[in-house]
Amino acid sequence: MVRKRGLFIVVEGLDGSGSTTQCRMLKNFLDIKGIKSIVTKEPTNNLIGGLIRGVLTGDWQINPEGLQLLFSADRAHHLEKEIVPALGRGVTVICDRYMFSTLAFGAVDCGMEWLKVLNQKFLQPDIAFFLEVKPEECIRRISAGRDKFELFENKEKLQKVLTNYKRLTEEYPNLHPINGNRSKDEILRDIVKKVELYLDNEKLTEQEEKKAVIEDSFSFHH
Ligand SMILES: Nc1ncnc2c1ncn2[C@@H]1O[C@H](COP(=O)(O)OP(=O)(O)OP(=O)(O)O)[C@@H](O)[C@H]1O
Ligand SMILES: [Mg+2]
Repeated sequence: MVRKRGLFIVVEGLDGSGSTTQCRMLKNFLDIKGIKSIVTKEPTNNLIGGLIRGVLTGDWQINPEGLQLLFSADRAHHLEKEIVPALGRGVTVICDRYMFSTLAFGAVDCGMEWLKVLNQKFLQPDIAFFLEVKPEECIRRISAGRDKFELFENKEKLQKVLTNYKRLTEEYPNLHPINGNRSKDEILRDIVKKVELYLDNEKLTEQEEKKAVIEDSFSFHH
């Protein structure tokens, strides 16, 4: 099925919370439903994304504000070159991390308000999920999977980021908290439920709009 405009879905969470896993599983689900989608991520694999990864792995240094400017520049490019064109073709975009990562992680070292202003012009996702997972569980998952810890992956920092994310779920109605301390399938089930609810509501709105247009033209002619 090709939609008029693709759905813009974002998955967020602490490092190791399972965002990449859920993006992949959600894409499989949409494939089965016949909804055309792509998975993309931030930081991107483009030039600026490469610079960011260099900072996160400690290959080169920049101050916290400089790093956040890079994340936002990477996002501007990502939106222009990949996300918006795909949505325009009716393709649903599943983005592994987006502006809520900037707000939650960036606010540990930079002010939240400055970061919000920096991201003000960027497209809001239709639906975003915050996978809420305890920092200890994230660290356990990460250490089981690889040996190199990146910049943000210590418990205290993760705790602060978690608090920031929770605050954001209260502020942004499109950011849905999901209990991520469960099995991958249980988490996916909740995500899918929300996506289906969104699609159902959208259908209802479309029907109501059509009905309103018909009623309008009716009252106009009689
Ligand atoms: N619900 C879950 N229960 C147990 N393990 C999980 C769950 N979800 C993902 N994992 C495992 O945890 C590890 C990290 O998952 P994943 O790479 O999806 O996390 P991430 O949030 O994308 O991490 P990163 O921030 O490092 O990109 C993987 O080994 C994955 O298989
Ligand atoms: Mg990942």
